[in-house]
Order: sequence, then structure tokens, then C-alpha cells
Amino acid sequence: MANATRKTAADLRSARWFAPDDLRSFGHRSRLMQLGYSEEDFMGRPVIGILNTWSELNSCHSHFPERVQSVKRGIAQAGGFAVELPTLSVDESFTKPTSMLYRNLLALETEEMIRSHPLDGVVLMGGCDKTTPGLVMGALTAGIPLIFLPAGPMLRGNYAGTVLGSGSDAWKYWDERRAGNVSDEQWRGLQGGIARSAGVCMTMGTASTMTAITDALGLTLPGASSIPAVDSGHSRMSADCGRRIVDMVWEDLVPSRIVTAASVRNAAIVAMATGCSTNAVVHLVAMARRAGIDLGLDELDALGRVTPLLANVRPSGKDYLMEDFYFAGGLRALMKQIADRLDTSCLTVNGKTVGENIADAVVYNDDVIRPLSNPVYHEGSLAVLRGNLCPDGAVIKPAACDVKFHVHQGPALVFDSYPEMKKAVEDENLAVTPDHVLVLRNAGPKGGPAMPEWGMLPIPKALIKQGHRDMLRISDARMSGTSYGACVLHVAPESYVGGPLGLLKTGDIVRLDLPNRRLDMLVAEDELERRRAVWSPPEPRFERGWGWMYTRHVTQADKGCDFDFLERDFGAAAGEPDI
Ligand code: FES
Ligand code: MG
Repeated sequence: MANATRKTAADLRSARWFAPDDLRSFGHRSRLMQLGYSEEDFMGRPVIGILNTWSELNSCHSHFPERVQSVKRGIAQAGGFAVELPTLSVDESFTKPTSMLYRNLLALETEEMIRSHPLDGVVLMGGCDKTTPGLVMGALTAGIPLIFLPAGPMLRGNYAGTVLGSGSDAWKYWDERRAGNVSDEQWRGLQGGIARSAGVCMTMGTASTMTAITDALGLTLPGASSIPAVDSGHSRMSADCGRRIVDMVWEDLVPSRIVTAASVRNAAIVAMATGCSTNAVVHLVAMARRAGIDLGLDELDALGRVTPLLANVRPSGKDYLMEDFYFAGGLRALMKQIADRLDTSCLTVNGKTVGENIADAVVYNDDVIRPLSNPVYHEGSLAVLRGNLCPDGAVIKPAACDVKFHVHQGPALVFDSYPEMKKAVEDENLAVTPDHVLVLRNAGPKGGPAMPEWGMLPIPKALIKQGHRDMLRISDARMSGTSYGACVLHVAPESYVGGPLGLLKTGDIVRLDLPNRRLDMLVAEDELERRRAVWSPPEPRFERGWGWMYTRHVTQADKGCDFDFLERDFGAAAGEPDI
């Protein structure tokens, strides 16, 4: 395939900027010379944009300034010309109200940055949760050759001899602290020990899920997503990305040849087998739609039912973290376990097929990467529910909650806002039983906005003190990929736009039937009609700015929360202005 459509220097997209003997091209060439480059540095060479989501407030990408040097080295060696372009960083840790509010802004920026500049190919440097789908969505639409360079997971956390997992152990020890079991000194020790190096959260949270999905789609070098951020192999992989992208330009290996219905299906299967974050649903659906593939929630549920969870990595797995997963063989080894369920003929960025890339993969520790005969859980990571509470779907992580909640019925305790709920759950006299179903609404794509990761609703203190650590919870929010518990999320349509969750009242009986994928409120239809007749939409939250634009254009969770006007079929494909 490599030689099928080999380009010449005259075919390069960047030649439109640099090659003509006219005044505008004179300007482009002279401005690169202003930067200290000679014509021989850039004329006739693939210009590779390195889209870098580094910032001093993105703790997960703090190694990127060093990695950029490795990428540039690779690009130069292969005969390309490297330019680094900083993009919106979208850090997960500091962004309020939620980083999700800015995923689409990064996607928009990525698309337009590529469209407007003389680039022939791009290396996308991301990893912290929303940076991966944001970069990939934008670059898929732009359509020029791309390689995604995953930031890689940070080292295992450690405090006082105890291994700590990002997010998951923060939630766990916070509940213990609320129960009075963790001292101030221990709390500070946990704070210093839980994030020990550059890199993304090292549980199978949203970051490692999304980089694994991107790897399985064929958009990273094979297995790149598993390499720890501070491993020297990560620098070598970065240089490999630089070398490879230059050849991809000559080979015209555009992403539409890589991201197909078959590779999206592969990615969904791999996500299920890794114990993926629930956020994977929203992002994979959005990424696929950018490639013209309509991935439905029911298809994801069907794949989830037949794909066992093989990665014993927290929070869905019990014991291990991403560093262990890497040393156990990494994603290629996991994919080899399920090779017969994948379409191994799919092409990847290295010009080889999935099958070729995983042929020599080995599992070195079969407790971390389980064989099909001994899965962590017999089904995949996610299940999709339907019912009169969520006609367009809702998501739950069966393996990450106590099985006693898989079939559960109890009275609803409903909150309309997070602050209201937060205050109530701290009240030790709150009238709540372990059977209650905690509900938060107005936390969806438009209502949150951007579905903040509130969905692991805090267990009321009254129950914590009695020793309870899980209960059934329902919201139209998302939850962190590092979270766990009996949490039903992404209820669609959201209450804020008139979804039935908005009609639920405290005391109504709610029933979850996970084996049958049902979530219902046991309220008569004529009563629901009465409630619907008097329901009125909440006040709009934003009157200007990004929030206004976001809430006007974001789609519902089952459609991936992209902007309607960025969707592939919104209008005719944009041409590049040739001026
Ligand atoms: Fe960056 Fe978790 S905070 S990946
Ligand atoms: Mg997260």
C-alpha cells in the first residue's frame, strides 16, 4: 500500500504556500527566513505541525517540552520540516466547571489551525482526558495525515508503603476521612504521594481509556498508549512519531484510510476489554461521527455484552495500575488476547495492519492481562440502559459496582443542583436509607453545562457513618473515569431540555434492572403526563460568550456532545481559501 499514491514535492499541500513565484509566496518564504531558516530547510519538504497541548497548568503534560525535541529530531532525520504549534491545553485538574466544556473548543482550534496553516501532516501531543478526543476530532475533520502521541501514564502512586491509584484512591480515602478514619498528617501524605511524576492518571481512567482507544483505532504507533510518560521508551516513541509522520505524508496515508467502521468497532471492543471509563462512550461516539460513522449506544451495549473485561487495572479491575499493564505486555498484548474478535486487516499509522502489529505481542503477566478463560468480569466495562427515565439511553459500569445493585428498587431522593445536594449529603440527620436512590439532575450537556463529572454522587454522611460505601445513584452528568460505584450516568435526554428525569419526584420508586438493561420510574403514564404539562424549562445560564455558544449548539450525550455545526453532515465540506 505504501507506494500506491506516493506524493512528489510538487503535490505537497505546503507547496501552495511556498512554491509559486508570486508576491504572497515571497512573503511566506521570507517570513520563514525571518525565523532563521534557509530555503533548503523547508522547500520541497513535508511541513509537520506538532500540535502541543502543554501548559504550566497541565500537570499531566509537563514532559512535553522535552518530548517535542524528540519529535523534531525524528522529523528532521526523515527529511521533514517541524513547526511546533501550541494549542489550548484543556487540563483536567484545574479547569472549572469541567474540562468537557472545552473539548469542542480544542477540536475547533485543531481543525482551523491545520486548515489555515501550511501543514502537510501533524503530530498530536495529548493525553490528559479531553485533549485526546479534542485533538483527534479536529484533525480527523481536517483530514491530513496525523499521528497521535499519547502522554503516557504517570508512575504508580505511593504513600507509607501503600500503592495509590489516581482518582480512585482520592475518592476512597476521602470517604474514610469523612468517616473520621484518616488524620491530617495522613491526608497530607496521600496528597503528596498520589501523583509522583509527569504523565496522565495511571488508573484506567478517561485518559488511559482514550489513548487506548486511539491506539486501537490505529492512530498511534502500535502500543504507544501504554508506555509510561517518564520511561526512556517514551522519548524513543516520540522520535519514532516524528520519523513516521514524514513518510505518512509521502504515502498520503490520510486518516480516512485508517478510521473506518471496522476500526471504530475494534476500538469499542478494546475499550470494553480494558475496563474503560464511561466517558469513552461520549468521546468515541463523537470521534466516530467526525469520520462519518454513526456509532450507536445499542451497538456499544451489544459489544459490551460479549466482550469480557481482561485488563485487571483499577478501578474496574482490582489490583493493578497502568505501569503494571505496560510491563505485562501493554495494549498490543491485550489486543492479541481478543484478536479473533477484531478486524485485524485494519490499517494503522505505521502502514501495517492491526494483525501485523500485534503478531509478536506477548502477555508477561496473566494476572494483569487476563486470558479469555479467566476474565476480571464476564462482560465488558459498560452497559447501556433504556427505560422511561432514559429513552435515549444511560450508561453504567457493572463491574465497578456492588452486584447487589444490579437489580434494585428504591425511593428517589432528588436534587436539582449540585450545591443543594452537596449540602444535604453532609447532614447527618438526612432521612435516607441504603435503599434510597440518589438523583441529581440539570447536570447534562446543556444543563451542567458540559456534564460535569459529578455523577459519582457522594454517599450521604448518615450512611457513611453506618458503614455504607455504595448506593444507587442516577444523574445526567458524567463521572470521572477513575470513579466507581452503582452510578447511572449520561441520562438522555437530559432534564434541562425536558427529559423525563426532570419529572421525577422525591419518593417515586425507581427500578434498575441491569441484566435486562432497564431503568424506570414506577410512575403511571397519566401522572407523568400531568407533570409534563406543568414542567417549564429552567432559566438559560449564559447570556454571552463561550457558555452561550456551547449551550446553544452542544448535542445530547448519545450523540457525543459535539457541536451541531461541527458535525460532518452539517453542511458542505469547507474548501480551503486559496487567496
Ligand atoms: Fe490529567 Fe487525569 S488529570 S489525566
Ligand atoms: Mg478524569
